[in-house]
Amino acid sequence: MGKALEGVRILDFTHVQSGPTCTQLLAWFGADVIKVERPGVGDITRGQLQDIPNVDSLYFTMLNHNKRSITIDSKNPQGKAVLERLIRECDVLVENFAPGALDRMGFTWERVQELNPRMIMASIKGFGPGPYEDCKVYENVAQCTGGAASTTGFRDGLPLVTGAQIGDSGTGLHLALGIVTALYHRTQSGRGQRVTCAMQDGVLNLCRVKLRDQQRLAHGPLTEYSQYGEGVPFGDAVPRAGNDSGGGQPGRILKCKGWETDPNAYIYFITQAPVWGAICDVIGKPEWKTHPDYAKPAARLPRLNEIFGAIEDWTMTKTKFEAMEILNEYDIPCGPILSMKELAEDQSLRATGTLVEVEHPTRGTYLTVGNPIKLSDSPADVLRSPLLGEHTEEILRDVLGYADHDIAEIESSGAIGDIRRQAAE
Ligand code: COA
Repeated sequence: MGKALEGVRILDFTHVQSGPTCTQLLAWFGADVIKVERPGVGDITRGQLQDIPNVDSLYFTMLNHNKRSITIDSKNPQGKAVLERLIRECDVLVENFAPGALDRMGFTWERVQELNPRMIMASIKGFGPGPYEDCKVYENVAQCTGGAASTTGFRDGLPLVTGAQIGDSGTGLHLALGIVTALYHRTQSGRGQRVTCAMQDGVLNLCRVKLRDQQRLAHGPLTEYSQYGEGVPFGDAVPRAGNDSGGGQPGRILKCKGWETDPNAYIYFITQAPVWGAICDVIGKPEWKTHPDYAKPAARLPRLNEIFGAIEDWTMTKTKFEAMEILNEYDIPCGPILSMKELAEDQSLRATGTLVEVEHPTRGTYLTVGNPIKLSDSPADVLRSPLLGEHTEEILRDVLGYADHDIAEIESSGAIGDIRRQAAE
């Protein structure tokens, strides 16, 4: 049986992180992703944060698996002609250029539709239509303008950005869903359509619960926030909630054995109401099960500092893994704070293919995150990222049907760079 998206051909004009996340997922699902890169230069991330000189960076290799690379100068007339033929041959065009860049290349939505009415054209921009639509945007800008930063961190500290790339990778995920939805629609309509995703919108979507809290504020304090129990009044906007749980069940990050020297010796602990009795027994406070100040969730809210303090007295006697094991026996929701080192060494993540070792011709073996979305009939094989222009000749010949002399002529025009030199490098 073929892969889920086998037969779907994608013209991938993406670069940096947001767009490549999207097309990498589609490639893992079986689409033929043809990544267009500028001759001699390529995706800027090939050379960013390089750990080994003159070798494609991990930044690039970890975002561009299972793709083919063709180098085309989109501003060269011959290059444009090649791109027009690719547009006719592909099902989806994905791009995350700065606003207006694709239009300046001559590929407006109108022109793309003329060339291929079945084309789905998908774009990521920083902002949707409005005052900021022309701005270039990177990850942290999106986190700040989408509501994440104002609601992350501690009340008495700066707004904080998070390590999870919710602006870039998050928006790439949103776009991938838009693309497969448009592909499904096309099976009935016969036509392509425009799919757009703004990073601000993607982040705001992931901050949905904070917009929920913004509206709840009009009806009184947010009682599950620690500041309620501490008697600190709320302002007119959702405050930063530290490590408070975003749901209705209070939660905190608590110290575990070794916290004095290990920056990750902590556990997230949720005082879920149905297991309150078990929590009291585990931490040695059985009297709290019936005491009117502690027995019911509402009574506990003003006392969360004291309660979590008592729980922490217990977690500090256990390593995070010991605590996890004991708490799981009682279905008490918790999670150790895992470092990237611990995750990289996690055997169960390797067994499921979420972590994969990949062989690369110039880098050697490296570890990457595989497809986190598992399809039972279409498992993803993680194949290394392409070298710059590695498949230029192959695509010109096999996808577009150019003969050898055509390819030589295109090459001499400068439209595809020096493919023989690129192949040798
Ligand atoms: N051949 C010739 N020119 C090419 C080319 C090719 N194959 N590929 C790109 N270019 C040109 C573009 O046409 C553009 O030229 P122009 O400004 O003359 O029109 C130029 O390269 C630069 O492209 P741009 O997208 O503006 O790159 P940048 O490095 O200046 O900006 C971003 C990078 C990410 C800020 C910007 O692309 C952006 O805002 N993207 C949308 C939001 C986004 O995805 N951000 C997160 C990225 S992780």
